[in-house]
Amino acid sequence: MPVTTSMERDQLELAREIRELVRQKNAVILAHNYQVPEVQEIADHVGDSLGLAVEATKTKADIIVFCGVHFMAETAKILNPEKKVLLPNLAAGCSLADSITPESLDEWKQRYPDHYVVTYINSSAEVKAMSDICCTSANAVSVVRSVPAQKILFTPDRNLGRWVAKQVPEKEVVIYDGCCPVHDVLRGANVKKVRELLPDAVLIAHPECREDIIAMADVVCSTSGMIAAVGRFPERKRFIIATENGILHQLKKRYPDKEFILADGCIGCRLNCPYMKTITLVEVERSLREELFEVEVERDIAERARLAIERMLAVPRDA
Ligand code: 13P
Ligand code: SF4
Repeated sequence: MPVTTSMERDQLELAREIRELVRQKNAVILAHNYQVPEVQEIADHVGDSLGLAVEATKTKADIIVFCGVHFMAETAKILNPEKKVLLPNLAAGCSLADSITPESLDEWKQRYPDHYVVTYINSSAEVKAMSDICCTSANAVSVVRSVPAQKILFTPDRNLGRWVAKQVPEKEVVIYDGCCPVHDVLRGANVKKVRELLPDAVLIAHPECREDIIAMADVVCSTSGMIAAVGRFPERKRFIIATENGILHQLKKRYPDKEFILADGCIGCRLNCPYMKTITLVEVERSLREELFEVEVERDIAERARLAIERMLAVPRDA
């Protein structure tokens, strides 16, 4: 019989209490693929930024508990102004979203006045409100291809922007200078070394990775795109994953007979988003019980940001 430790028993008890609160309060828990496994396990939906934004438009719940980072909860609130949206830990920010402010975007817009502004969902509501359309890593190529303009200002992620610009050579893309420190710290040399050790492995990279890693990758896609991509290689056993370590939970769950190796060759050393990991079962339980921390977006900002998000939602995912 498997032995459970007291810590595991505490977690099981917390998980049970959380699900009971979800039922009593007519809530829904949305969790990003980078959340810790135990949080993913108590969620109603686990997905990438796009998938969770879509789930937020579909839910009939009164309360959305967003186990992800602030810009994701804010997006859910913008799409559901009448619902209560909770972020279990206010420390769950995002360095990439913080790399662009309304002031810095304004400066870039003045430099490129006739450019159509495409903004990655990893941004604040204010920045979205100043943009023409949003995109995520799952639809960025289709969004840029679809916009009714030749000249694009792509913000804030430079790695995603460069990758998109290569996929859509018919557009002129000016790229803002932000990045995700979790992905940008990964170097081509690290990935090359792991590849040399595992020459039979498929390399799947997130488009927030640097250009040289993207150039080496067999597949470039969003976090949920990675889960689907593994299914397209039924003969292959090993996969090198160039993104945050939380994704390993869904990958191992879906493909228990395959092996997944993080692209830095070191589990959780660098490919770890400290913001995503601020949310634990303890915080989720408190969030539901005390209805903390409520995410609010000013009405005028929310209305303009919603326009940019809704334009994005009308574009299909990248193939
Ligand atoms: P996805 O939309 O691919 O899940 O990515 C979100 C993110 O924050 C990547 O760092
Ligand atoms: Fe932001 Fe990077 Fe963390 Fe994603 S991994 S939430 S982009 S800091």
